[in-house]
Amino acid sequence: MAIGVFDSGVGGLSVAQKIRELLPHENLLYLADSLHAPYGEKSASFINERARIIVQFLIDKGARLIVVACNTATVSCIKELREQFNIPIVGVEPGVKTAVANSTSKVVGILATTQTLKSPAFTALATQYSKNVKVEVQACPGLVEQVESLLLNDANTQVLVQQYVQPLINKGADKIVLGCTHYVFLAPLIQQVAGPNIEIINTATPVAQEVVRRLSARGLASNNRELGSDAFFSSGELELAMRQIKILWGENVRVERIV
Ligand code: DGL
Repeated sequence: MAIGVFDSGVGGLSVAQKIRELLPHENLLYLADSLHAPYGEKSASFINERARIIVQFLIDKGARLIVVACNTATVSCIKELREQFNIPIVGVEPGVKTAVANSTSKVVGILATTQTLKSPAFTALATQYSKNVKVEVQACPGLVEQVESLLLNDANTQVLVQQYVQPLINKGADKIVLGCTHYVFLAPLIQQVAGPNIEIINTATPVAQEVVRRLSARGLASNNRELGSDAFFSSGELELAMRQIKILWGENVRVERIV
């Protein structure tokens, strides 16, 4: 039995890392659909079809719980995935609730993909929490590609981050939500641009905690005494996938190419 985690690319490794920290004895399968990244500029039906193929692949490899480590895929198709597959499926949504609950300026900023921000699921989430607090959104085309290319701090990435973060600061945001799992790898740069008084909100830990709860509620938690195994799959170019995972996961790993 394993936990299957996937994303449009390597961004979901930020969620997988937290799951690995909290659940050292579970086996993890991670699939990066890098050939099709970014999902954020694709249609919901394309994302749904990719997600369906990937979830089936992970189940065939032994996954008994799936984590959609992608905000875009979660808001686009988690409902359909839950109808299609009879195993627990945990998703990732921008941490609007936490940001709103802790904002003193009463303005929060959300960085996310175009597709996430225009989805009915995100609109409902933002509306639900924008009674006394302004929820300002900023789409960030290009940032997923910078992370996929491992350009975490190059001049273009800095320009893009400045271009996306500054308007939120100008509007008075004191919390900035990372509404895309790729952006977690840009958090140091985002914090640098935002300055020390702005809190950056990442939902990886609450998602990993939810995985812990779901595993035990379903009686799926492993009683392994040894450390769990990690297996990585990518639809992207193999040499790049190995470099991406080595740098972002922090270990030299074997990656299997999938189509
Ligand atoms: N990591 C994905 C997310 O959380 C990126 C989506 C994309 O590929 O645009 O939304």
